Amino acid sequence: MTAPASSLPAGLRARPLRETDHLRVVEAVGQWWGTPNAPELSLLLPRLFFQHFTTWSEVVEAPQDESLVAFLIAFRSSSQPEIAYIHFVGVDPAHRGQGIAAALYERLFQIARAAGCRWVDAVTSPVNRGSQAFHAALGFEASGTRIIEGVLAYPDYDGPGQARVALRRAL
Ligand SMILES: CC(C)(COP(=O)(O)OP(=O)(O)OC[C@H]1O[C@@H](n2cnc3c(N)ncnc32)[C@H](O)[C@@H]1OP(=O)(O)O)[C@@H](O)C(=O)NCCC(=O)NCCS
Repeated sequence: MTAPASSLPAGLRARPLRETDHLRVVEAVGQWWGTPNAPELSLLLPRLFFQHFTTWSEVVEAPQDESLVAFLIAFRSSSQPEIAYIHFVGVDPAHRGQGIAAALYERLFQIARAAGCRWVDAVTSPVNRGSQAFHAALGFEASGTRIIEGVLAYPDYDGPGQARVALRRAL
């Protein structure tokens, strides 16, 4: 599917995710997150996402050297087609705060809306306050059933001890 025009910063272009992006995206997660669990996080991005979930996923590359600036892994729910699901988003720390993630989200919203979706869902960790603030800024509502690490989250959502904050935005 052709992505709509976006408000990415001047000079930056988004293009569809490819299988050949897998290794460098996984490497980027290890470097960009800067958290002790970064190697664990890369396990959330197995190659299958780069083979079977590329239609609504994009990367942004620097025009000079095609280095990776940002990526978004998203797809339409196959069991609930009215939902677009954002699995992962990441922006190179050197390029944060310029609206790049917001532009990638806006591109996805346009694609999902045009396809007939009504909601965009995502989850994040209770400790990831940056992600929570980013999603709140983009109009996502957070939900959970218990206060965990100071925020409302679902306990054991992704396994024992793996609480998550659920995020949803209407399209
Ligand atoms: C979260 C992340 C994707 C944001 O990317 P970004 O390109 O810097 O975000 P944007 O510049 O598009 O910001 C959009 C809005 O979110 C807000 N925002 C973004 N990051 C924020 C943060 N850490 N704290 C508070 N607000 C934040 C911005 O202020 C902006 O709000 P505004 O429109 O009211 O000005 C980026 O910080 C990142 O890659 N973090 C590590 C990975 C991660 O946690 N991903 C999400 C979970 S998978």
